[in-house]
Amino acid sequence: MRSTEIIGILGRQVLDSRGNPTVEAEVTLACGVTCTGISPSGASTGRFEAHELRDDDMQIYNGKGVTRACRNISTAIAKELTGMDAADTASVDQAMITLDGTDNKSVLGANAMLAVSIACARAAAIAQDLALYRFLGGVQAAVMPLPMMNILNGGAHAANKLDIQEFMIVPTGADCFSDALRMCAEVYHALASLLKKKGLACGVGDEGGFAPEITEESHAIELILEAITRAGYSAGADFSLALDAAASEWKVRDGYIMPKSQRTYTAHQLTEHWRSLIAQYPIRSIEDPLGEEDWPAWQALTASLGGSCQLVGDDLFVTNEARLQKGIDMHCANAVLIKPNQIGTLTETIRAVRLAQRSGYAAILSHRSGETEDTTIADLAVALNAGQIKTGAPCRSERTAKYNRLLRIEAALGSGARFDSQAMNG
Ligand code: PGA
Ligand code: ZN
Repeated sequence: MRSTEIIGILGRQVLDSRGNPTVEAEVTLACGVTCTGISPSGASTGRFEAHELRDDDMQIYNGKGVTRACRNISTAIAKELTGMDAADTASVDQAMITLDGTDNKSVLGANAMLAVSIACARAAAIAQDLALYRFLGGVQAAVMPLPMMNILNGGAHAANKLDIQEFMIVPTGADCFSDALRMCAEVYHALASLLKKKGLACGVGDEGGFAPEITEESHAIELILEAITRAGYSAGADFSLALDAAASEWKVRDGYIMPKSQRTYTAHQLTEHWRSLIAQYPIRSIEDPLGEEDWPAWQALTASLGGSCQLVGDDLFVTNEARLQKGIDMHCANAVLIKPNQIGTLTETIRAVRLAQRSGYAAILSHRSGETEDTTIADLAVALNAGQIKTGAPCRSERTAKYNRLLRIEAALGSGARFDSQAMNG
């Protein structure tokens, strides 16, 4: 077998899909394999995410430079990891966690650490002639994820007047992943022609969904339902809907104020709002319906809606095992969004997924609104048999890169590929 000993690591500043700098790590192994990994970046970030280290020099890239994080890779991290085995993901990640020494990875930067963690795993997989999903998941990796596709954008991801951040379609009538992808793309195009016909702009938001100038969430939902019908499908049977409210962005001291419409709610009123939307429309999943520190309200919401709807903690759990364990103990949510850069290493990402799976929570691999050509989350979804993925519209190469990677994995798995169109919890 070729040697997977690490002989060199460097950090490089590259651009994400918003044109902001992000961190790339390049790892070289003794066998000659060189491989890269890139960290993504969020806009509606949770308060409890691991630290994204930026330069804060307002003269350069509006303060968003990541040269310090890149330098950490080329100096301290390179020194620590040189000579280690890149195939030993747990030890590589633990060495960085120990070197950083903080709870939130603020010394080295979670963006630096994740890029290295990915680059090491990718390089080791190549050296061992394994696909990344096989390297990370072993012989059991077989489940193709059900896509939750964000086709209409609002909130912090679009300059329109919608407060809900993501309106997603979920092809619950699909037979396999490629079928699911085709169905979603057909609805996406039907939505484009519908918007055009109604004189609404077809520009897209950060995740590739359309960002029409509409104000009412019910209007957005009705447009999507009509697009589903126009594409020849039946809403409720072939497709369910999913929302990401990203309600942490709405939290004020005593309740919630939607920043665009200025509507105000108490936690209880917001819960009732979701209940009536679920009753009215085929909505099967809501992410961050409440704020990231509103644990008692999450508890009440889960008790009343958790039996009929997937309730996803994103900002609530931030891919952090301790926060997820707290939620499990308190019966808050029934699913967790998994974003590797929220926690900063592959090892901790995998541990969060395993904890969810042991506890009857669904796990959904997810991109960030600021993405790149790095497709690791596609491989992770299959490696961990997570069953669901959220990676934007079938538009913009940083989003389609993940879908296209999944098409290749599906082909490689052949008759061994499994797919569950009912993977949503609740
Ligand atoms: P973000 O959005 O990457 O801007 O945090 C994605 C999400 O909230 O799920
Ligand atoms: Zn979210």
